Amino acid sequence: METTYHIGLGYNDTKTRKKAEQDYISFWEEQAKSLHWFEKWNKVLEWNPPFAKWFLGGKINASYNALDVTVAKNPDKKAILWEGEKGETRTLTYQELLQYVCRFANALKSLGVKKGDRVTIYLPMIPELIISMLACARIGAIHTVIFSGFSAQSIRDRVDDSKSKVIITADGGFRKGTVVKLKEIIDQAIKDFDFVENVIIFEHANIQVSYTKKDKKWQDLIKNKSSLCEAEKLESVHPLYILYTSGTTGKPKGVLHGTGGYLIHLYSTFKWVFDIKDSDIYFCTADIGWVTGHSYVVYGPLLHGATQIMYEGAPDYPTPARMWKIIEKYKATIFYTTPTALRMLMKYGDDLPNSNNLSSLRLLGTVGEPINPEVWRWYYKTIGKERCPIVDTWWQTETGGVMISPVPGLETIPLKPGSATRPIPGVLVSVVDENGKDLPAGTKGYLVIKQPWPGMLLTLWGDDEKYKAVYWSKYKTMYYPGDYAIKDTDDYFSMLGRADDVLKVAGHRLGTAELESGFVSHKSVAEAAVCGIPHDVKGESIIAFLVLKEGFAQTPQLKDEIIAHIRQAIGPIATPDQLHFVSKLPKTRSGKIMRRLLKAIAKDEQIGDISTLEDEASVDEVRSALSELRQTIQKNKIK
Ligand code: WTA
Repeated sequence: METTYHIGLGYNDTKTRKKAEQDYISFWEEQAKSLHWFEKWNKVLEWNPPFAKWFLGGKINASYNALDVTVAKNPDKKAILWEGEKGETRTLTYQELLQYVCRFANALKSLGVKKGDRVTIYLPMIPELIISMLACARIGAIHTVIFSGFSAQSIRDRVDDSKSKVIITADGGFRKGTVVKLKEIIDQAIKDFDFVENVIIFEHANIQVSYTKKDKKWQDLIKNKSSLCEAEKLESVHPLYILYTSGTTGKPKGVLHGTGGYLIHLYSTFKWVFDIKDSDIYFCTADIGWVTGHSYVVYGPLLHGATQIMYEGAPDYPTPARMWKIIEKYKATIFYTTPTALRMLMKYGDDLPNSNNLSSLRLLGTVGEPINPEVWRWYYKTIGKERCPIVDTWWQTETGGVMISPVPGLETIPLKPGSATRPIPGVLVSVVDENGKDLPAGTKGYLVIKQPWPGMLLTLWGDDEKYKAVYWSKYKTMYYPGDYAIKDTDDYFSMLGRADDVLKVAGHRLGTAELESGFVSHKSVAEAAVCGIPHDVKGESIIAFLVLKEGFAQTPQLKDEIIAHIRQAIGPIATPDQLHFVSKLPKTRSGKIMRRLLKAIAKDEQIGDISTLEDEASVDEVRSALSELRQTIQKNKIK
């Protein structure tokens, strides 16, 4: 029997869950009353499978809810406690944030940005990133934030897909003491894109950048702009943002989120999962370039008028104690991070956290990948000093907000290391087999979501068919997230990683198809096959097998060149840990890479009998490809 930890925050609300089970639609309607609406909805949910429209007819504005609501009550409440990598600081109150957002919203308007226009944001973790998003939300423009670690080519694909009219960037951002030249990357990314009318540059790193006619300096643009800007009264289903994420195809998918439903999902989960209080100092380490930053750095905390720490740099820079120092300095009460960060920090031992005062902490959270039970226990003991509940939160870009997690702000249930426990109230999930049949406790299967939820994506940007195909074709009436899970006899869910061709490298989603097309775009590569192998810090790391074109020799120089190329094509997060040249790949007759076998070889597992593959491929061919793969890995290991 696994040890459980009976630790909570003293809440024992049984009514909320019951109400949600009785009627999830009126349950969510009740929750929606916590937000400010210009006009009330006339229908809670229009469910036209697989398209959900929440709070139809309601008029709302995300930036109004995130700012004006708190300003009316407590204008001097601190919203952002920002710290740069070099230790410089800035503090913004809700009043200051609102005024700044309005000025920038007026600046966007002066460039002709209107409701429904797309605006790409490529900024480091500085307050201007939040300000840009809220300014878009204020005027009904759709923001599309791109993680500042992505390369020019990745940005190009995304900007082309969203057809953004304006791009917001900085001269540069800081990462581990070096400056990333963001404006230069943007210049490369949008070359010849006539539909991009303007690029706004925030001068942050004080480096020289060249300005073209399209380019506007942020600091100039907001001069003389009014700090009043009325929030647009938007339909509840008006798109708030597009966030690109990797899937099983070569191109990233533009996940489109609406406003009313999304916000209420975040408002509720931020209360139930994080038990947010007026006195809290919340610290989420996620970059806003990912969904965790959108939902639980920007919208969730601001909807509650919370005070939060925002940190620009790397978590282990200039010392691996940086996170603990920040917690001590600002007296953080809630800390939300990733298993990858914890695994890395745990490696440095207990002295660093022990020599910083972490006694302000009262709640800990993780997100993005499965957390190993031993890391969970370390987090619990060494960081939380056995006082803080841990919320292991399972969700996705597509779900908008947390779906499965303990809810210590509502109830106290025993926690089990490695389990995200139960779905939040109002969400119905299950573990099923290939045919969609519920599986008994203890059997591994596919996770599914059985009814619509308010934070769910509206669709994929410009591609309803793909939306249907990706999430609603494996099971016609249930949403398929692409994860394996197992349920235990207490109805607790443990998440077991991706069931599809998506990798989670340091918590970041990368599609194998996307990586493979990145490799194949190098002039020397004829074919590529990529898979993930377990990594003790990153959770998963990338291993790539490449077949070269005729006339290219397998040299170490070429290897380096290809690695530089993939970093250029996607970004540094796509750097493979292993890269092997082979003469053929294990494939079916129809040319599909036999990924299961590839993975087994990469993980140095036995693959057993492959003679049953007869229909799919020539067994001899596959056998010889596999044996070559195995030998190549061995040979490269020795080198
Ligand atoms: C994985 C991140 C185990 C999962 C918010 C999911 C998790 C994917 C957890 C979505 C967790 C997220 N335990 N696995 N607590 N949280 N995942 O879109 O595979 O970047 O499908 O959203 O991360 O990744 P995404």
